[in-house]
Amino acid sequence: MKLADHKATLSFSNGAPSMELPVYAGTIGPNVIDIRKLYGQTGMFTYDPGFLSTASCQSAITYIDGDKGELLYRGYPIEQIATQCDYLDTCYLLLNGELPNEPERNGFHKLILNHTMVNEQMQFFLRGFRRDAHPMAVLTGLVGALSAFYHDSTDINNPEHRRIAAIRLIAKMPTLVAMAYKYGVGQPYMYPRNDLSYAGNFLRMMFGTPCEDYVVNPVLERALDRIFILHADHEQNASTSTVRLCGSSGTNPFAAIAAGVACLWGPAHGGANEACLNMLEDIQAKGGVAKVGEFMNQVKDKNSGVKLMGFGHRVYKNYDPRAKMMQETCNEVLGELGLENDPLFKLAKELEKIALEDDYFVQRKLYPNVDFYSGIVQRAIGIPVKLFTGIFALARTVGWIAQLNEMIGDPEYKIGRPRQLFTGSTRRDVPTLGQR
Ligand code: SDX
Repeated sequence: MKLADHKATLSFSNGAPSMELPVYAGTIGPNVIDIRKLYGQTGMFTYDPGFLSTASCQSAITYIDGDKGELLYRGYPIEQIATQCDYLDTCYLLLNGELPNEPERNGFHKLILNHTMVNEQMQFFLRGFRRDAHPMAVLTGLVGALSAFYHDSTDINNPEHRRIAAIRLIAKMPTLVAMAYKYGVGQPYMYPRNDLSYAGNFLRMMFGTPCEDYVVNPVLERALDRIFILHADHEQNASTSTVRLCGSSGTNPFAAIAAGVACLWGPAHGGANEACLNMLEDIQAKGGVAKVGEFMNQVKDKNSGVKLMGFGHRVYKNYDPRAKMMQETCNEVLGELGLENDPLFKLAKELEKIALEDDYFVQRKLYPNVDFYSGIVQRAIGIPVKLFTGIFALARTVGWIAQLNEMIGDPEYKIGRPRQLFTGSTRRDVPTLGQR
């Protein structure tokens, strides 16, 4: 980052001395006001719950222009990455800053695809869960448990450990997600295969059985690879910020990523795709498109607490470019499977049409986000609704790692420790029991 050609001046109407604050500029996007000396000089904190106006770090990984609906991975538009690269190319790009040339690409693909097995002991963790445990509960446990097996890559300050941990996490997440699924349906785990693609291997571990050969459908394989790409990273979202804050204590990468998995589970974040699909099925069960008007009235009624899941975004105040790509992927997959008339897809498109013409949504700049169509395409592929967020976590693991590594590699980083505006009781003495 570089100093801007101007400063910010903070002045107080009570005559307290004003102070000058440096302004820094990045390569693109909003400038920042450096407030690191604010508390020392004024004894005051800034106040920004939800961090709507706060840059927590400097980063060169992912850029979002919410007004334009633009998403860049290391400068490359998501639309080009999603159509010209595969997920492992995207992982290489996010981790290293550049797309791989052919030898680098072949080496990285081989590295990942040859480290997809997990320690045989991992399967015994699953046995502790009920068969109907939510896959995200299982995944949170399994990812955290990885740190018990890989002591040779838990020193987050060792670049080689970070590199090895990154390979292990990217390689093993599909295996863990598939194991969580198989455990839930009571089927035997499928061991990964090194001769399949990343997405193809995942499909086989999910839907293959020991009873017969599993043939990967190339259209589904490509669609799933694209879903992984679209979810790979997204700037300083809630789960990424969780990973950064967790990793800032110096804990191991596996524990920090497990914290990201736990945060992503929330319905306001990565859990929205599951909530969106449940919302569509609920409307469908009540009458489908004919009931959309009634549902929309509920959404617009503040007291209902009902939200149009898969809509709205903290940053995008325009169409989420990932939602557009996801809708295209929906068309491809539903077409391939002869499900063009999928009622939920038609319902989703009707909901979108009505929302984008409704003043409530237009005024609040609420558009479909990545989660609005992702559930429909995953359901068409055969992925159960409860596993949608697990797929999101699988894909976002590389983004979390890239952001964690960027933070640890930043000489300026410190343990994250925000302050507060205290509104509780001032000092008082403990009353005796009789006095309470
Ligand atoms: C992801 O941050 C990321 O980058 C996340 C993500 C990623 O890749 O990591 O993009 C992934 O999490 C996508 C978002 C998935 N969540 C949902 O689809 C859940 C539904 N969306 C909302 O919960 C909401 O839009 C958020 C949480 C996504 C954003 O919330 P904000 O930025 O805090 O905005 P807000 O809640 O202050 O909303 C502004 C207004 C409010 O109305 P008013 O108080 O001004 O009258 O818009 C309304 C909100 O009530 N609103 C909605 C709405 N989203 C916002 N009203 C109905 N339905 C919605 N979905």
